[in-house]
Amino acid sequence: MHSMETQRRSLVGWLLGGGLTASVISFLYPAVRFMQPPKVPEASINETVAGKIDEFKPNSGTIVKFGNRPALLIRVNETEWRAFNAICTHLNCTVQFEQPTSQIWCACHNGRFDINGQVVSGPPPGPLEEFQVRIREDEVFISKRA
Ligand code: FES
Repeated sequence: MHSMETQRRSLVGWLLGGGLTASVISFLYPAVRFMQPPKVPEASINETVAGKIDEFKPNSGTIVKFGNRPALLIRVNETEWRAFNAICTHLNCTVQFEQPTSQIWCACHNGRFDINGQVVSGPPPGPLEEFQVRIREDEVFISKRA
C-alpha cells in the first residue's frame, strides 16, 4: 500500500515536472527563435531566383541577394551568364562589374578579376567563388556549385 502511494505520488510529480518543463520550453522557444532568426535557413540556401531575363542587359552586372549574401550576376552577352559570390577575397568588400573593361572591380583597394573570377591585379589573394547560372523559361536562377 505504502509503496503504491509513493509510486502514485512520484508519477504525479513526474507529470507535474514534465508539464512545467513543457511550459518553460514553450515559453522560451519563441524567444530563442527570435534571438537567432532566419540565419539557419538563409545560410543553407543553395538556389535563388535572380529575376527575369530581360531585367538584365548584355555586358552588365547586377548585385542580387543570394540567401543573406550578395552575388554578382553578369550577363556577358545574349546567351552567356556568370555569377559569383560578390564578397571580395581580399577584405570582404562587395565587388562590382565594370562595363568598359568587362572586368570585376573591387573599389576598396582596386582589386580586379576577369570575367571568370580570376585575379587580374591588386591585392585579392584568390579567385571569386563562382556560382552556377541556369535559365528556366524566362527566369534566371543562381545556385551553388555542387
Ligand atoms: S577588399 Fe577587395 S581589394 Fe581589398
